[in-house]
Amino acid sequence: MTKELSFLTNDANETALLAEKLAKIVKPRDLIFLQGDLGSGKTTYMRGFLRGLNFTGKVKSPSYTLLEQYDLELTINHFDLYRFKDQREWDDAGFNEFINGNDVNVIEWPERAVDVIPISDLTIFFTYLDDKKRKIVIEGNSSRGRQCIDLLS
Ligand SMILES: Nc1ncnc2c1ncn2[C@@H]1O[C@H](COP(=O)(O)OP(=O)(O)O)[C@@H](O)[C@H]1O
Ligand SMILES: [Mg+2]
Repeated sequence: MTKELSFLTNDANETALLAEKLAKIVKPRDLIFLQGDLGSGKTTYMRGFLRGLNFTGKVKSPSYTLLEQYDLELTINHFDLYRFKDQREWDDAGFNEFINGNDVNVIEWPERAVDVIPISDLTIFFTYLDDKKRKIVIEGNSSRGRQCIDLLS
């Protein structure tokens, strides 16, 4: 059973503001997927999410390093698996420990690693509508994910 919420944002800041709301309710072990084409707003959402957790630094897109870690009140692991190729890379990098630990994990391009990562609590789908408009659908896949949907609606 999935539960979902749908939004339309009119600029990057609106997308970031949406993410700040999620930041207010996030808990250790939450697993969040960000899915959508390049330029659809995933990293923009991540910036808002980190801002919502009072992070004031620069948010880099971890497209080459695959992972960027933020030690805030909670530890946030931001994955970008766009360039992820070999599933063995996952184990070698020790990513399983992050996913199975007490951090919050947010993953861009989870499609690239379906065989090694579990099902998300929340999957957020980004669709490019025009230059400034994006459709954002937040789907809750676990009981925790559905609880998040209730808290966000
Ligand atoms: N409504 C919007 N939501 C998110 N990003 C937007 C929006 N309108 C314009 N943009 C711009 O689109 C780009 C999205 O890039 P990014 O967040 O890096 O995408 P992705 O991580 O999905 O590849 C940014 O340059 C951002 O400023
Ligand atoms: Mg990105």
